[in-house]
Amino acid sequence: MNEKKDRKNDLMEKVVSLCKRRGFIFPGSEIYGGMANTWDYGPYGVELKKNIADLWWKTFVQKRDDMVGLDSAIITNPKVWEASGHVSNFNDPLVDCRKCKMRHRGDKLLEEKIGIDETNKIAFEEIGKKMTELKITCPNCGGTDWTDARKFNLLFETHVGVLVDKKNTAYLRGETAQGIFINFKNILDTQSLKLPFGIAQIGKAFRNEITPKNFIFRTREFEQMEIEYFIRPPKEERDWRDIFERWQEDIKNFFEKDLGISAKNMRWRRHDDNERSFYSKDTYDVEYNYSGIGWGELLGFAYRTDYDLQQHIKHSGADLFYRDENGEKFVPHCIEPSWGLTRTLLAVLLEFYTEEEISTSKNKTETRVVMKFPKQLAPIKVAVLPLSKKDELLAISQKIWINLRENFRVEHHSNGSIGKRYRRQDEIGTPYCVTVDFETLNDQAVTVRDRDTMKQERIKISELEKYFEEKLA
Ligand code: GAP
Repeated sequence: MNEKKDRKNDLMEKVVSLCKRRGFIFPGSEIYGGMANTWDYGPYGVELKKNIADLWWKTFVQKRDDMVGLDSAIITNPKVWEASGHVSNFNDPLVDCRKCKMRHRGDKLLEEKIGIDETNKIAFEEIGKKMTELKITCPNCGGTDWTDARKFNLLFETHVGVLVDKKNTAYLRGETAQGIFINFKNILDTQSLKLPFGIAQIGKAFRNEITPKNFIFRTREFEQMEIEYFIRPPKEERDWRDIFERWQEDIKNFFEKDLGISAKNMRWRRHDDNERSFYSKDTYDVEYNYSGIGWGELLGFAYRTDYDLQQHIKHSGADLFYRDENGEKFVPHCIEPSWGLTRTLLAVLLEFYTEEEISTSKNKTETRVVMKFPKQLAPIKVAVLPLSKKDELLAISQKIWINLRENFRVEHHSNGSIGKRYRRQDEIGTPYCVTVDFETLNDQAVTVRDRDTMKQERIKISELEKYFEEKLA
């Protein structure tokens, strides 16, 4: 068995095609001609996304005694975003190509040519001029003449109620994090939490991106998994740095041990003074080497000081102070790991897409496509496949299916050749296939095929549940 993986060239294309073909991710609004850069998660995509989110929740909320969860509203009072700074500062530089009039994000085009560090040194007002000077080509027409950059606010505006009026303006949340800050007091009042503690949230966020692209990498509607971890105001750097470094360790472990992403495909890129927000003391982008895109941010990690809570105190007048057991009152500081759930899912799809050359029974070789997801992430854990549609086999296979699905996500398929059915399950990453054959009628046993090794073993039906409990633990 010869495993080949081409990270450079067409891996992204292959993954996009598999996602559509096998029911992970579909283009949005397809039957109406589509809606550019929107994506719908199909039966396996929704399972995979949920499994990633569940694993994250289990790791960072369920198994810790210093974390609680939240699910805050998507439609929010505009004052939240005025306080957070998003209304005035959440802008991208919009440039127009003078030749074809197409609009682009100037900083991203510059980044592709001169890298992110050099781009960060260029002042907003200089972006258009620099692009013309460097002869940056328009991706649409090849033109090299650019307008000055204008500020384009990313918040998604909507109107609440029947009147489309400035007074009824609301924003869809641009990040889940602000929902955490505005519920800080509610959580303090209802939970017995002692610093340091964190609040976690998973959910949709919306940004009116100028150039959404690269499949689900940059979209206008996406999902985040965010944590705001509150600490005492530090007296010296070590006080926050120790906790910051522990989080770095926890994040690394989650990527490498829980998600199984190889260290060589991840890197931590530290923001320099030009890139880092003025209130942050240290910030990293944790990047994945996305095939066809290159290094792209998967997670933002920052020590945000007490900026957010102070802003909400100033704008809302609410009491967002913490009182310790000695009666001391202060505004906690905060460390924020902010994952893109949909970007994590894309990394997982690229990471575990595998092609293997295998020999067939006719002494030929063929390519087997396998999604080698870690078992916990696999959308379907077991497929039950009766060798034929004969009633006596179906009676047994359906009983096995019904029993196993009490504990695991299991499919039952009786159509098509067994080879084709195995191939389909390999492509969706199902770790085990159970085949019911005519021998089953005599020995009350079935064949269990392992996705990765393709080895088969005979297991008594009465022992199947225990077998999978151990294998899928
Ligand atoms: N609360 C901090 C915050 O939102 P961010 O770096 O703007 O920080 C965090 O976003 C993560 O959200 C990113 O690392 C990325 O994974 C994801 N993300 C941001 N914009 C996205 C988009 N347009 N499409 C998909 N994911 C996005």
